[in-house]
Amino acid sequence: MRIKAGDFDLHYDDHGAGTPVVWIHGFPLSSKLFTAQHAIGGYRHIFPDLPGFGESPAPEREMTIDDYARAVLALLDALRINSAFFAGVSMGGYICFAIARQAPHRVKGVILIDTKETSDSDEARQGRYKSVDAVADKGVGVVVEQMLPKMLTEKTRAANSELNETVRTMMAGSSREGVIQALRAMAVRPDSAAVLRELEVPVLIVVGENDPITPPADGERMKSLARNAELVKVPNAAHLSNMEQPEAVNEAIARFLERTAADPL
Ligand code: MLT
Repeated sequence: MRIKAGDFDLHYDDHGAGTPVVWIHGFPLSSKLFTAQHAIGGYRHIFPDLPGFGESPAPEREMTIDDYARAVLALLDALRINSAFFAGVSMGGYICFAIARQAPHRVKGVILIDTKETSDSDEARQGRYKSVDAVADKGVGVVVEQMLPKMLTEKTRAANSELNETVRTMMAGSSREGVIQALRAMAVRPDSAAVLRELEVPVLIVVGENDPITPPADGERMKSLARNAELVKVPNAAHLSNMEQPEAVNEAIARFLERTAADPL
């Protein structure tokens, strides 16, 4: 479905009924990242394609992580959803922190998957700007080839080439402008430790044991910062743990939602 969400033109999917859960994908991916999570029954699942990714067009201006958060909140306004659980993978997690900073009253709980609360180091920021130049010059394929080997474990890539191709196709479908905007936005994102510390709602942290981008140490640090967090480490999973080990991840998320969704906000 397509909707005008504030300044943004967003494609999204809307499945099920019950307490809303908003699923925010990572970079450079799309809402298809969460295909396996459709199976978590008993909730209303909202799956937006962020501006410039999947089927959502890129806005004609610079973006910040706060702008992506505004786009997601405007989508909820358009759907007349006041509050929800927010689940984010990697860049989606950065956006969950921005949502919690902008509109804490709209957050019933947060599910942080393969992400981290820190900002970029100077070195990482320089790497982003190099990638911006490379993508502007040669297209999104540069980022796809750089990131693809880190998304799934080597074992899964060898045993399930179809899943690896699904990830590659999803990444390659991102628009050049969308990828450049997101790289610049991530480069200047703020540190979110204070947001995490101040979150009063329950937090679930999920991390692939073999995630080379946001390793388990990031999950452990986030757990120690949060007031009310549970940490689940997923064996045999790299950066896209929810795609690589959907049963284990869905079970952890379903348990978390069952335990916390009935609590009044
Ligand atoms: C992602 O998966 O969203 C990216 O790895 C995040 C990042 O590059 O920091």
